[in-house]
Amino acid sequence: MRSHKCGELTAQHLGQNVALCGWVHRRRDHGGVIFIDLRDRAGLVQIVFDPDAAESFGIAEHVRSEYVLRIEGVVRNRPEGTHNPNIGTGEIEVLGKSIEVLNEAETPPFPLESEIEVNEETRLRYRYIDLRRPAMQHKMKVRRDVARHLRQYLDARDFFEIETPYLTKATPEGARDYIVPSRTHQNSFFALPQSPQLYKQLLMVAGMDRYYQIVRCFRDEDLRADRQPEFTQLDIETSFLDEQEIMAIMEEMIRRLFADIINVDLGDPFPVMTYAEAMRRFGSDRPDLRIPLELVDIAEYMREVDFKVFSGPANDPHGRVVAMRLPAGGDLSRSEIDELTKFVAIYGAKGLAYIKVNELEAGVDGLQSPIVKFAPAETWAKVMQKTGAQNGDLIFFGADQAGIVNEAMGALRVKLGLDRQLLTAPWKPLWVVDFPMFAWDEKAGRFTAIHHPFTAPKCGRDELLADPGAAISRAYDLVLNGTEVGGGSIRINRTSMQEVVFDILGISETEAREKFGFLLDALKYGAPPHGGIAFGLDRLVMLMTGASSIRDVIAFPKTQTAACPLFNAPAPVTEEQLKELGIRLRKPGGKEEKAEPAA
Ligand code: AMO
Ligand code: AMP
Repeated sequence: MRSHKCGELTAQHLGQNVALCGWVHRRRDHGGVIFIDLRDRAGLVQIVFDPDAAESFGIAEHVRSEYVLRIEGVVRNRPEGTHNPNIGTGEIEVLGKSIEVLNEAETPPFPLESEIEVNEETRLRYRYIDLRRPAMQHKMKVRRDVARHLRQYLDARDFFEIETPYLTKATPEGARDYIVPSRTHQNSFFALPQSPQLYKQLLMVAGMDRYYQIVRCFRDEDLRADRQPEFTQLDIETSFLDEQEIMAIMEEMIRRLFADIINVDLGDPFPVMTYAEAMRRFGSDRPDLRIPLELVDIAEYMREVDFKVFSGPANDPHGRVVAMRLPAGGDLSRSEIDELTKFVAIYGAKGLAYIKVNELEAGVDGLQSPIVKFAPAETWAKVMQKTGAQNGDLIFFGADQAGIVNEAMGALRVKLGLDRQLLTAPWKPLWVVDFPMFAWDEKAGRFTAIHHPFTAPKCGRDELLADPGAAISRAYDLVLNGTEVGGGSIRINRTSMQEVVFDILGISETEAREKFGFLLDALKYGAPPHGGIAFGLDRLVMLMTGASSIRDVIAFPKTQTAACPLFNAPAPVTEEQLKELGIRLRKPGGKEEKAEPAA
């Protein structure tokens, strides 16, 4: 039907007869001449219809936005002064000779100009129109390029691409499962995988040596801008490589990806930081290193002060007291600080103390704050010195349980860094290593796995059992600009160690057998040392395209409430389907079922 794509025409094609197909992006009537910007995936080209060609002009007069056309014409130079440097075809235009309407279109629910903000619900309901927008087409192209690039890199290193099942049993990654009822095994359910973790480990036991898969993962968890209930991982597993070797191959892959696809140099090597240092300096295990602000511990100075808010946590082994210097932050108004206080409250902070540094030379008289009176001048002098305070700065303070201080001050750090445009570089990758094996869950009264229960500890069995809370794992995360883009570990490859870890996690022997018996068995049949990693493909593409939400780089994403407004999914099923599955709903039709009267 066509000889060229609209967006690929250039001055090279001058004088050629071309046939083009595409959508009407815009139509303008200019004193007897009609301009149509015809759009396809390759881009836009301007078509001109003169009244001389009466028949086609007559049709052109009646086409409207988003009509699908086939046009024949000849490529010519645009008149002097009408070149458009913003589009690839800006030097030329096509003089239309014939026009055929392939299909009409109703007025679209929103205009397709990229700059126009459209409500997301509407965009998702009409996603097939939203995706026509050049900005969305670009994101899909980058996504295609990224997947292709990653595949090429791994194929060249002899990784096997192997598919693993979606209908499976729960694979714990810390979220709820999506479950699927089985018709052939009544009262039994499949779980959609939270990741292919266990399959990829079994592939290593099976001697596959190096595996990868671009694979969908399903997690029923609270959604955020960088989380979807179904998302795509680049999932990887290798045998006979230690963490340094795995990290080196992966780092090179990501470096080349950014260089080749978006021409960004991420640096070589990526810095490596321990979990403990990241928490101490940034209050986060995925610190955004573009932001120059840091948390500074001051508990040592606050044990004796006359201010319970500080002295309490300073004397509590689980407490933390930090200061964070905002250079030139003295210009923040009272109401701005009140807003920030509300912001940290979201993370559980009970307040946000601060000191304005007016004049360091004047000692405590040069410090402006309601809390200055609670501690002696020498104490504040030490705090000023440790934070590196300068005149005109603002120092924020956080004091509470360490977890709350880290979350609240870590989030404040990022907020201030972004809002006040303090970024020191456009890209900052970071490996975070030496994660603890376990976190203590106060509410449940037991340990939970920080990575997943199949991650190997750095220490031996006895040491692990003696003090699980102190054990460090062989896990590593790749963080880019404050987003966790990948995470992996060396795995446990001995049944005895795996049993100990299950035990520490409070998984009984019976439960471990029932849930993971197949893994415990497999580890007995010659499981090689193995380890791997998984990258969030959507997150990588989000960062590479500068998208503000992961939803913008997924063709058909779910909303914040995990629904699809286009298909109206999830949706009720028929009574017949339920019967076949042996399922009776507790609340038919979404209504509370009436209690059966007692017999
Ligand atoms: P993890 O749970 O860290 O590890 O996931 C790996 C990467 O997947 C991305 N990711 C997500 N992206 C979008 N939406 C989500 N809901 C979501 N959850 C995770 C993140 C994350 O770094 N099996 C292990 C990997 C391994 O050990 O090899 C795993 O799944 O970018
Ligand atoms: P108060 O004496 O409660 O009025 O608190 C004095 C200052 O300390 C105020 O600026 C509060 O916002 C701040 N503040 C209160 N609790 C905390 C806390 N846990 N961490 C940091 N600052 C706090």
